[in-house]
Amino acid sequence: EKAGYTHFMQKEIFEQPRAIIDTLAGRIKSGSPEVFLPDIGLEDEVFKSFDRVVMLACGTSYHAGLIGKFLFEGLARIPVEVDLGSEFRYRDPLVGPKDLVVAISQSGETADTLAALKEATSKGATALAICNVVGSSLTREASGTLYTHAGLEIGVASTKAFTTQLVALYLLALHMGRLRGNVSDEKGIELVDDLIKLPGLLQEVLDKEEEIKKIAEDYCQADDFLYLGRGLCYPIALEGALKLKEISYIHAEGYPAGEMKHGPIALIDEKMPVVVLANNTDVFEKVLSNMQEVSARGGKLIALTEEDNSAALALADSAVMIPAAPQTLAPVLLTIPLQLLAYHISVLRGTDVDQPRNLAKSVTVE
Ligand code: M6R
Repeated sequence: EKAGYTHFMQKEIFEQPRAIIDTLAGRIKSGSPEVFLPDIGLEDEVFKSFDRVVMLACGTSYHAGLIGKFLFEGLARIPVEVDLGSEFRYRDPLVGPKDLVVAISQSGETADTLAALKEATSKGATALAICNVVGSSLTREASGTLYTHAGLEIGVASTKAFTTQLVALYLLALHMGRLRGNVSDEKGIELVDDLIKLPGLLQEVLDKEEEIKKIAEDYCQADDFLYLGRGLCYPIALEGALKLKEISYIHAEGYPAGEMKHGPIALIDEKMPVVVLANNTDVFEKVLSNMQEVSARGGKLIALTEEDNSAALALADSAVMIPAAPQTLAPVLLTIPLQLLAYHISVLRGTDVDQPRNLAKSVTVE
């Protein structure tokens, strides 16, 4: 059943190129700027005319929502709010008929996400689900569902469900951007072609498993980890930290790199590994100065960056190279080394990777 892999989590990490191909299938085609999403069950006129998007989710799916905000705001120029199911449902939220609610869930059975979606629809909002399980409760409550075709995910730590959620959000945002007139034909074709290239780029990162395993060996004894990123990569820092803590039981925090000086910098010493998402973006110079701050305090820098990024490489104690990719898709690529790092650290520490203590695959109680 594990197809030669040691754990389901490892198998599912390696299934990601295929999962993304399946999630894209039939929805885009090379050379065309259009996105075909008949399953969302909303007329184009309706889908394009909301005033706001509200994303609701928990855990890893919430991190996907945080990235979704960048994608919708960037491509469709629509304001987006992202909230946790457990928070939204209890705060008498301001939501109504002009809002599109996008509830994101691998299982479709997460109690808090379901209740949050019901709260929004009871106030007149239209609900869409992004979900991996056909016919699950969430999909029955929503007016339409964009399925992620990740296939069955068994490992409690979500991996392929997350990256396919990112792809689904990208498709939805691009579709809305087209309908709202914000994405030209030329730009649309370019974005679609970027998506088509994504599974191949992901495979290139997966091929670095041995390198990442070596980094895991170097740092598996640490008691605390910090993950830093900016912009679109900040939610990936959160996700990297969540992955590590849930399966290795090491304390880990994800932080927006610019916030480091407002507190977490006090934690940094030579025992603290700091994973930095240091890929080429508009804010790279800012990330670089955060790296300098860590380095000056003796912190150990593990950088995820591109081969030609000599500034990041010069500062890093360890590095994982990711292939050059468009800024909006880089978060998907950066997720892979973080999954593999958490996985190998956990294996080295001898924890139960697929069934970590105290956790359930779907949280059907509040
Ligand atoms: O099934 P869902 O996507 O609604 O689950 C939400 C969270 O419970 C889930 O992502 C959890 O955080 C995972 N264990 C993360 O790896």
